[in-house]
Amino acid sequence: MPSIVITGAGRGIGLVLAEQYRERGWRVYACHRHASVELKRLANEHLSLYPLDVADETQIARFVDGLGGAPLDVLFNNAGVYGPFEDGLGALNAQGLLETLKINTVAPLLLAQALLPNLQAGSRKIIATLTSRMGSIADNASGGHYPYRASKAALNAALKSLSIDLRPRGIKVLILHPGWVKTDMGGPNGQLTIEQCATRLCGLVDAADQGDSGRFIDIDGDTLPW
Ligand SMILES: NC(=O)c1ccc[n+]([C@@H]2O[C@H](COP(=O)([O-])OP(=O)(O)OC[C@H]3O[C@@H](n4cnc5c(N)ncnc54)[C@H](OP(=O)(O)O)[C@@H]3O)[C@@H](O)[C@H]2O)c1
Repeated sequence: MPSIVITGAGRGIGLVLAEQYRERGWRVYACHRHASVELKRLANEHLSLYPLDVADETQIARFVDGLGGAPLDVLFNNAGVYGPFEDGLGALNAQGLLETLKINTVAPLLLAQALLPNLQAGSRKIIATLTSRMGSIADNASGGHYPYRASKAALNAALKSLSIDLRPRGIKVLILHPGWVKTDMGGPNGQLTIEQCATRLCGLVDAADQGDSGRFIDIDGDTLPW
């Protein structure tokens, strides 16, 4: 039975990913900062809930220790924040910027590092991370959104290095833009339902090969500019 760790599984894209991988018969480690009623309903012998605030290094260590050496096929870094609502020039402050970086940039990297032995022992060897097109420097024509854009651009840079460093070990690093999705973060005008998005993300993970590792991948599989 293939296995997957999903962060931020309490709601949004993470919740539906957990549901879809459960339906596909995977062993799901559903990590959450707040366990929603919907996530609790999904729990069964193959889907377990784990409290994990990804901004807390102690919680990351505890979660990884709890896994022991269990083989892991996929680490899915989904958890993320938009950051402070007031994020334009004049409203910026260090706390808001750093907290956004900690969750969006630092946490996926630390989790990947901590779970390397588990991924090495798994068959599929995939680290999939949700970044954003808003982290593309080449695509930035409208400015603003400092904490979110900077955190995802830095995430992309870190994941690119990870893909190069892990290539000899056969571990693939997928840098995925999920599209504009109708979630709390994406809002009601998003172009994709969460279900459509999660189905396509599962498809991208299924089809991933070494050529995809380190590529900035749109939800349609196209390459996005850095
Ligand atoms: N929606 C879009 O259009 C869109 C577009 C591009 C990229 N993305 C990316 O896709 C990912 C998922 O976004 P979404 O739209 O599903 O957002 P969402 O509906 O706001 O959900 C965010 C999820 O991340 C979790 N999270 C936030 N901070 C956390 C922390 N410190 N520790 C653990 N979990 C934490 C939240 O948990 P709580 O319930 O505890 O807050 C929630 O489960 C994010 O990385 C986002 O940047 C989304």
